[in-house]
Amino acid sequence: MGSDIKLDINARFDHARDVIKAAGKRAMSYYDGTAGDLEIEAKTNALDMVSIADKNVEAIIRDRIHDAFPEDGFLGEEMGIEQGSNDCLWVIDPIDGTACFVNQMPSWCISIALVVAGEIVLGLIYQPCNKELFTARLGEGAEANGEPIKASTANSVSEGLMGLGMSHRTSSDEITPFIKDLLDREGIFIRNGSGALMMAYAAAGRLIGYYEPHINPWDCMAGILLMREAGGWANDYLGAPDALEKGAPILTAGANVAAELRAMTGIEK
Ligand code: IPD
Ligand code: CA
Ligand code: CA
Repeated sequence: MGSDIKLDINARFDHARDVIKAAGKRAMSYYDGTAGDLEIEAKTNALDMVSIADKNVEAIIRDRIHDAFPEDGFLGEEMGIEQGSNDCLWVIDPIDGTACFVNQMPSWCISIALVVAGEIVLGLIYQPCNKELFTARLGEGAEANGEPIKASTANSVSEGLMGLGMSHRTSSDEITPFIKDLLDREGIFIRNGSGALMMAYAAAGRLIGYYEPHINPWDCMAGILLMREAGGWANDYLGAPDALEKGAPILTAGANVAAELRAMTGIEK
């Protein structure tokens, strides 16, 4: 990557940090009921509220990035794909952990990644309730609130907590053998409702890794770069056929436990 592009990426990183915090503030106002949107006031149902919050938060992110970098493209959970006129694609989940958000539990976050010509170069995950911002830049390491983070050094699955995700997009048969195997190896799992947040926790070494049989790109792009830049392993998600359109399995892991988890999940690369 040439130095001009690198400068450009740094400018995008600085901007994305401001944008994700502003988006977090807006999302928080829906979570704590201070938003005061006319649209919200007209509705009472929590699911309506979350769908309005999702759309408005994604719109804030897209608008602010578009204002600064009008040539860049977008892929977001709420508003879909919008091709740009350069190689930059911002991949956005405005609220990851919707079930928690809507049920007044704090494990939800915003995830923003920048993919340039098929390579993830920036990843940001912000959890407003904890005011914790996880960031990674390709080749520059990963940080939580500006402090370097490292993936787990566990040598086996029995040495820590494994993050697991599951949705009704896949059948239960895709996860139950893994859970049995994990428990038989004296490992244990956690699912907090936000795949992106668990991936950030795995990059920070709080979890030994994260596995989900099927995940969408807006859930995992930032988390993949965070794990790699924190010294851990992540599968070649974008190498799976049509991953940006259809999603794919995800596995991230601390470097010393990656081989065991790869064998257990059958995810080789
Ligand atoms: C979901 C969460 C969940 C994961 C699912 C995602 P949403 O995203 O990340 O933890 O297991 O695969 O779809 O609906 O809360 O944005
Ligand atoms: Ca999501
Ligand atoms: Ca979402």
